[in-house]
Amino acid sequence: MKRTILPRLLLLLPLLLQLSTRAQDTKTINIAVDKPTVKVPPAMWGIFFEDINFSADGGLYAELVKNRSFEFAKPLMGWKEIKGDGGQGTSLIINRATENANNPRFDRVTVKSDKGYYGLVNEGFRGVGIQQGKTYNFSVLARKGTGNTKIHIKLLAADGKTSLGEADLQGFANKWAKYTVPITATGTEAKGQLSVAFAGQGVLDIDMISLFPQETFKGRPNGLRADLAQLLSDLHPGFVRFPGGCIVEGRDLANRYQWKKTVGNVEDRELIINRWNTEFPARSAPDYFQSYGLGFYEYFQLADDIGAEPLPILNCGMACQYNTGEVATLDELNPFIQDALDLVEFANGAVTTKWGALRAKMGHPKPFNLKMMGIGNEQWDVQYLDRYKLFAKAINAKYPGIKLVTSSGPSPSGDKFDYLQTELRAQKANFLDEHYYQSPDWFFQNASRYDNYDRNSSKIFAGEYAAHIKEPKGKESELMNTWVSALAEAAFMTGLERNADVVQMASYAPLLAHVEAWQWRPDLIWFDNLRSVATPNYYVQKLYANNKGTDVVPTLMDGKVLAGKDSLYASSVIDKNTNKLIVKLVNTSSQSVNVDLNIGGKTVVQGKGSCETLTSANLLDFNTLAEPKKIAPVMEALPLTGNMVFVRLAPRSVNVITVPYN
Ligand code: AHR
Repeated sequence: MKRTILPRLLLLLPLLLQLSTRAQDTKTINIAVDKPTVKVPPAMWGIFFEDINFSADGGLYAELVKNRSFEFAKPLMGWKEIKGDGGQGTSLIINRATENANNPRFDRVTVKSDKGYYGLVNEGFRGVGIQQGKTYNFSVLARKGTGNTKIHIKLLAADGKTSLGEADLQGFANKWAKYTVPITATGTEAKGQLSVAFAGQGVLDIDMISLFPQETFKGRPNGLRADLAQLLSDLHPGFVRFPGGCIVEGRDLANRYQWKKTVGNVEDRELIINRWNTEFPARSAPDYFQSYGLGFYEYFQLADDIGAEPLPILNCGMACQYNTGEVATLDELNPFIQDALDLVEFANGAVTTKWGALRAKMGHPKPFNLKMMGIGNEQWDVQYLDRYKLFAKAINAKYPGIKLVTSSGPSPSGDKFDYLQTELRAQKANFLDEHYYQSPDWFFQNASRYDNYDRNSSKIFAGEYAAHIKEPKGKESELMNTWVSALAEAAFMTGLERNADVVQMASYAPLLAHVEAWQWRPDLIWFDNLRSVATPNYYVQKLYANNKGTDVVPTLMDGKVLAGKDSLYASSVIDKNTNKLIVKLVNTSSQSVNVDLNIGGKTVVQGKGSCETLTSANLLDFNTLAEPKKIAPVMEALPLTGNMVFVRLAPRSVNVITVPYN
């Protein structure tokens, strides 16, 4: 076949164009693989859990019944009485506070007719999520009064009529006992209901009405919603911070988080109002309480299950300073300090100790290996310092190995911040917890924030951060986590990674939000009763946490770190266990950028590396339950032919480039 020279040249055109672009515009980044600067702490990238946005009850905690023990302020909130076919009955809420102070109320059901039924229907948390083919355990604490009342249980579709599974319970004894029956769902429904109907004249006392999926994360009883916990696990977080956040502090001291009230038998855990119930009138959630079904044992178990360090944060004798700001007097601080000491025993103590024995009884004789804890959340001023000192003295004396996390106040700068940073460094505090909920611009401009921090002083825990955009008018109701916020966080995180000797832990906040019941956004993961969606911010966290490496290596352009020059941000680590260089490169410009990675000090293995890219066309794009992968990382092979590695960075993209070396 006859071929002319022109088509051959045309074939070469893309390569020629690429070479000419490369020659003219390509930026060279020098990476010294053989000159590691600092170690990456294994627990560097973690998660922050707080019961906000229905994260616990109605979220991660797999219980499907709301107000299962009638302890909400309105005892029948979430329940609706039903009767039919001539049935007659009543519910009487009885308070037995002297007999059972933690769970005082129960419902005395009196069925007054042999005909038909009387019952209660639970609406769940914005519905009961039911999945076809899955089995749910219905359980109830019951005590027979008179007669022989039976319970007929139904999983109902959203119409309140269609049955998606049924079961019966009968033969109740005269003493309180737990009765359980499994129900396998015949249909899928995000907004289902649970019907508990009584038939047969008589009196039956009921409490702790529960519907729990048999499938929980790792099959744990009283466990976690599997899809949400799996998303957390997939991050491979280095630590789990719990239980918050402001929830630790409470609006007043009575409303503070007290871990001892969240362990032991579930039915003995005292419910309290969730402080986010009333915090924001515009996002009011009158049905938001803390059942503490997800309590400190379950948090420790979660950390254990996903290979993360537990990082509990404890109340330091101060209520939220945005609310009452009330404090316990220094003379009355002992019970608060004792809670901290006892928590170490609960987590690490021998099974022969009081609190170690409880841990063992709950199912975990092995210690949870607690190494650190936080004293207070977003506290500030001298009242914090005074209280922290007493905590530190007692904990250091009894448990010198436990590292303490201390507050830096609610903002990343200003008088409150400066005061605590100065004073706590003077106290040789282990970790200063910095929080920044700031604009994307702040994150872009602060990628060098830690380059000049004191290397020989207290370490930093970037304990809560998220880029918040000013929400455009008219979009308020639908907007979730925008691409620009994720891009900004990724750029900023190059600075955290580069300074891993100073910033030793970091966590995005908050973690979870129910799409119909949130109080605060943005959040890392959104969910409804059946589905969940990872945000672009989640993928940024995942890219960092799953590529954390072991040592930071110098990554310079024109001899300087890349923290915004030419719209580029960069940091690199090596993984000494696998001999891989991992480069994080963020391009914030609206144009693609060509980059040559000039890899020095080791020989690049010829063949294939990889480039995982996260990008989106529009800065206000976001993932939704209907379109969960609109913004998600895409992995591509990267040809490697020498120590100069060429990469074309897509406009506004986060890139993780992996290069094996010898
Ligand atoms: O993450 C939401 C809230 O933000 C936390 O509860 C608090 O610590 C911070 O103000």
